[in-house]
Amino acid sequence: ANSDTGDNAGGTAGDDKIVLGFSQVGAESGWRTANTTSVKEAATEAGIELKFDDAQQKQENQIRAIRNFIQQKVDVIAFSPVVESGWDTVLKEAKDAQIPVILTDRAVDSADKTLYKTFLGSDFVKEGRLSAEWLIEETKSATGPVNIVELQGTTGSAPANDRKKGFAEAIAANPNLKIIASQSGDFTRAGGKAVMEQFLKANPKIDVLFAHNDDMGLGALEAITAAGKVPGKDIKIITIDAVKDGMQALADGKFNFIAECSPLLGPQLMDLAKKVHAGEEVPARIETEETTFTQQTAKEALPTRKY
Ligand code: AHR
Repeated sequence: ANSDTGDNAGGTAGDDKIVLGFSQVGAESGWRTANTTSVKEAATEAGIELKFDDAQQKQENQIRAIRNFIQQKVDVIAFSPVVESGWDTVLKEAKDAQIPVILTDRAVDSADKTLYKTFLGSDFVKEGRLSAEWLIEETKSATGPVNIVELQGTTGSAPANDRKKGFAEAIAANPNLKIIASQSGDFTRAGGKAVMEQFLKANPKIDVLFAHNDDMGLGALEAITAAGKVPGKDIKIITIDAVKDGMQALADGKFNFIAECSPLLGPQLMDLAKKVHAGEEVPARIETEETTFTQQTAKEALPTRKY
């Protein structure tokens, strides 16, 4: 690594291996676990030495990890920013140290786009919009108001901001569709359950739950069942991700629709790490290919679903 220094300063590989420092958000969801596995497996496969750090959903831990990577003189830094704001200083430090940075999964709101080489991940606004479009079609013959509750992801995170935006913009033209409550469940099952319990207590008529990820939807299922309601029927459930447990709930008729968000970013990330390390130009934005699932298509896809 960093063969130009001649002293093995680039990480600890001690050979020509690229050293990649990767700061992961945490282990908050099934999606995140699948993403971590994908990154670790792809690094091994690509012959890249991975320095992996789990930030436990805290921005200060991610900043500390990135500073450690800079100090260790890794060849490339990649990270999935827990929130969108507040990265300029540390990204500037990486740039000054001439270490290329790759954003994976989530974006930052830095105005200076030269602080990172590329952003690899999903279009979260589109995921929110696709979720809304399914609902608009599903409720097109509804005569009265359709009351929606929304479980948001981690406050300040790109997927929470963008999914909320995409969904809200798409339903705006349908006055029947009303978001009556919206709160963060932090992308976790426990958060989804706790917030759904409050929603159910405060709102006698809930027709639809829009959860920003499968895990919060799965937590909410427990609260809905405990309240004596039938998930998927009394309350229609839309989620995002399409991890195995979510797909199972959809195939079982407990969820009604999932917009996919693919966690399998590892191979593309390793490819990009090699390219930026070699000084090659890479596209500024690489969008993940995704689909959507209904109860029927989930049944068909489940047997071969990898995660
Ligand atoms: O950033 C991607 C989101 O983060 C996933 O949708 C969610 O499950 C995860 O925690």
